[in-house]
Amino acid sequence: MKFSLNIDHVATLRNARGEKDPDPIAYALMAELYGIDGIVVHLREDRRHINEVDLRLLRELVKTKLDLEMAAVEEIVEIACDVKPELATLVPEKRQELTTVGGLNVIDNLEVIKDTIDELHNTDIKVSLFIEPDIEQINAAKDINADFIEIHTGKYANLRIEEEIYDELDRIRQAAKYAKKLSLGVNAGHGLNYNNIKEFAVLEDIDEVSIGQSVIARSIFVGIEKAIMEMRQLINSAKTKI
Ligand code: PXP
Repeated sequence: MKFSLNIDHVATLRNARGEKDPDPIAYALMAELYGIDGIVVHLREDRRHINEVDLRLLRELVKTKLDLEMAAVEEIVEIACDVKPELATLVPEKRQELTTVGGLNVIDNLEVIKDTIDELHNTDIKVSLFIEPDIEQINAAKDINADFIEIHTGKYANLRIEEEIYDELDRIRQAAKYAKKLSLGVNAGHGLNYNNIKEFAVLEDIDEVSIGQSVIARSIFVGIEKAIMEMRQLINSAKTKI
């Protein structure tokens, strides 16, 4: 299972004082040195964390893979087509939310998402749709030519009752297996951390996890190298069966 790092919150901290530190670009490059498989950033319409300059610098300097999370809106689509990340992950976006809440409703927004996928494909950008582990949403993603889905793991991360956690894991496992059968790439993320990754990383049909907050937060205490290495080790040491 690959491990991509979302560095948005390095920029959040930088922006808190309007200064230049901590520098998300330096953080991304160090993370690559410690073996991360890709860098993820979300260019929000309100630019609350990374901004366009960051994005363009990352495009120049990231050597692994750049995954741009974005809303399906024209302004951002234009920037994406110009910057050309390896992957664009379409996410729902509401101004007031603290973080991305829930997956995209592909079925209800089929036309706008399809047009966005077509536009990104015309520039040779692969497209992932951030959705709930739901068969109908996966079918819709396939119908409009998405290359990947990213399964929203927020519910899994928030559950506290063991039985409910295993039910949700099973729902994710079935969804990932189904998506693979349709030849979709399968990523997953949101709320994954050093406690809940162990059970999650046993899922065989997930190609890649996208993790941000927990790793950035831990790196404040133990440093970037250790924070990344510890997460990588937890992912790699997961058993193949629950
Ligand atoms: N995947 C998507 C689509 C997201 O929006 C986020 C949050 O920015 C993440 C993964 C990473 O979530 P977290 O920061 O909780 O690890």
